[in-house]
This record gives sequence, C-alpha cells and structure tokens, in this order.
Amino acid sequence: MPGTVLITGTSGQVGSALLGLMRERAPGMQIAAPTRGEMDLENADSIRSYVRSVAPRWIVSSAAYTAVDAAETDREAAYAANATAPGVLAEEAVKLGAGIIHLSTDYVFPGTGTHPWVETDATAPLNAYGASKLAGEQAIAATSAAHIILRTSWVYSGGGKNFVRTMLRLLSTKTAPLRVVADQHGSPTSALDLASAILGMMVATEFEAPNTEAPLAEALGSRGSIYHCTGTGETTWAGLAGAVREHLIRDHNMTPPEIIGVPSSEYPTPAARPLNSRMDCTRLFANFGIRLPHWRDSVEVALQGLAATDLPTKGLATTAVAPR
Ligand SMILES: NC(=O)c1ccc[n+]([C@@H]2O[C@H](COP(=O)([O-])OP(=O)(O)OC[C@H]3O[C@@H](n4cnc5c(N)ncnc54)[C@H](OP(=O)(O)O)[C@@H]3O)[C@@H](O)[C@H]2O)c1
Repeated sequence: MPGTVLITGTSGQVGSALLGLMRERAPGMQIAAPTRGEMDLENADSIRSYVRSVAPRWIVSSAAYTAVDAAETDREAAYAANATAPGVLAEEAVKLGAGIIHLSTDYVFPGTGTHPWVETDATAPLNAYGASKLAGEQAIAATSAAHIILRTSWVYSGGGKNFVRTMLRLLSTKTAPLRVVADQHGSPTSALDLASAILGMMVATEFEAPNTEAPLAEALGSRGSIYHCTGTGETTWAGLAGAVREHLIRDHNMTPPEIIGVPSSEYPTPAARPLNSRMDCTRLFANFGIRLPHWRDSVEVALQGLAATDLPTKGLATTAVAPR
C-alpha cells in the first residue's frame, strides 16, 4: 500500500492488533503510531500538528475514551476524545485527500427489541459513552472526508482489560459459582479479526484507486459509509464466560466453578448497558466481501494464546474489571 498509515490508540486492543498485523503482513509499510504524549485526543492542536507532520494517506482512528462507567461523570473528557477529536481528524483528512477508518460502537443503539441492528436503524444511546461516540460519527460524516465508520462490540484481545481475560482469571482461581449477566445479547469480537478487516478494507480501496496520489474519496466512492463489524453469531456475557469455562475443562483439565446467569439488574453499573447489542454485518460482506469468523472460533484462538501467559500459575494479575 502506498503512503503512510496513521494508527491512533496503538497501546489499546484494536490499535495494537492492527499495528502488529501490519508489521507482520506489510513489513515495508510506513506506519505512524503516536503515543498520547505525541497526539492527545483532548487537544485539537496536538492532533492537527501531528497529522500534518506525517501527512498520512490513511488514518485509522481506534483511540477513544473507553471507560464506559467513568464517562458518566467525566463527560468533558469523553466528548473531547470521542466526539471532537474524530471531527478534527476528519478535517485534516480532507486537506490531505486521506481516508479515515473510525471505530465506533453498538452502544449508539438503545438496546430495545431482539433484531440485529442494521446501519440505518435509528440511534439512541443509553449512556454518555455511547452518546459521545455517536457525536464522533456525526462529526466525521459532517466533513467531506473519505470515511468508513466501523461499529463493533464486545472487543477482547490478548492484552488490556477485557471480559475474556477476566473470566479466564476468575474461572481458574475461584471455587464459588460465578454470577454473570445473561440478559445482554451481542457478539464478542476479536481485536485481531477487526484488525484484519480494517487492513482488508484499506487494501480493497487501494485496488480501486486510479493512482497512488489520487484522493481516496474517489477510490472509496459509495463504499464510504457506516458498517457493522462484529464476530459472527451471538451470545450473552454468561455464554461467553461459558466458552472460557469449557476451554479450561477441555484443554487444562481444570474444574472451574459453575456459571449462574443473572439479569443486569443484579449488576448495577453507573452507565446503563443495552440488552440488545446484536449487529447485522450484511453490508460489510456485500460491499467488501468481509465477514468475521464465528465468535466461538475466535475466542478459542485467543484462549489458546492467552492460557500460556494468563493462567494463575504464570502470575496473572488479580484486579477485577468490568466487561468494558
Ligand atoms: N472495547 C470494546 O469492547 C469496544 C466495543 C465497541 C467499540 N469499541 C471502540 O473500538 C475502539 C478501540 O477500542 P479498544 O478496546 O482498542 O480501546 P482500549 O483498549 O481501551 O484503548 C484505547 C486507546 O485509546 C487511547 N487513548 C485514550 N484517550 C486518549 C487520548 N486522550 N489521547 C490519545 N490516546 C488516547 C489509549 O491510550 P493510553 O494507553 O494512553 O490510555 C489506548 O491506546 C474505540 O474507538 C472504542 O470506542 C470498543
């Protein structure tokens, strides 16, 4: 691929997966991966000066204020990072003729009903984090930047705080039954699968570009849009915990505690969570031929890697964390 790819949030789950994947699959590629000190989302001037200094052809915007509960009381910071910053990135992309791929969330939806959300469904976030992410989508769409907005859900990876790692720790160290939320429905998504989809979309778009200097808006054309991009299939948090439990029994001969499914009302959190986070990813397949693997298969792949480093005998950290 020509030009530089600027990836934000490379200390996070998705950004680090993409950075690793690109280094592996495209070793000669120019990548700019700013730290927060080099490009702070809460400081528009630092965003502008960093983007101008590297003049990327693509911007992958995966950095965000992701502390869902803290966002309820820290709205200013959440909106600066999740709403204002994406708009600034998109304005800079317009000036450069660059493309922007921005990560967004299932939390833009209200969680009503049982049908999988399609991209054109009405949004109505239940919490401040979701509202700030929706404002970020709107800020990008208000510019003429060549953009792709990828709404994903329930992301996990080998690093960082995530539900799969938390369950791995709890199920391998506790003996009392674990009470896990069973009335929120959605699709766990592997950060590595997402990274692979992002790379696939950039490569597919470059194939359409008349030349390496042409603005990406031309190559992206009508494919520039919002896409839902999650693991295939659906489950609940209790179902996901069950997959981790089965892995420990089957591959590690352990006897983990039982999992008891409980309603969200038993697990009150400052930010309300949607009960229905099912996402319809048909548009992504129709326009890019990309479909993420079934969540069970990807969780198993992640667990194979995680168990080697995260099982308690190898010194797992003991702090409990919420799903996200
Ligand atoms: N995790 C999920 O379940 C989930 C679900 C749906 C959508 N998403 C979206 O997917 C994207 C990636 O999520 P993730 O799970 O990879 O997030 P993550 O692991 O929490 O990482 C967030 C990244 O953003 C960076 N960041 C936060 N505030 C910043 C600031 N003010 N300036 C610069 N960098 C900042 C963090 O850097 P530091 O290391 O410096 O803090 C970190 O690299 C986000 O847009 C998120 O909203 C995530």
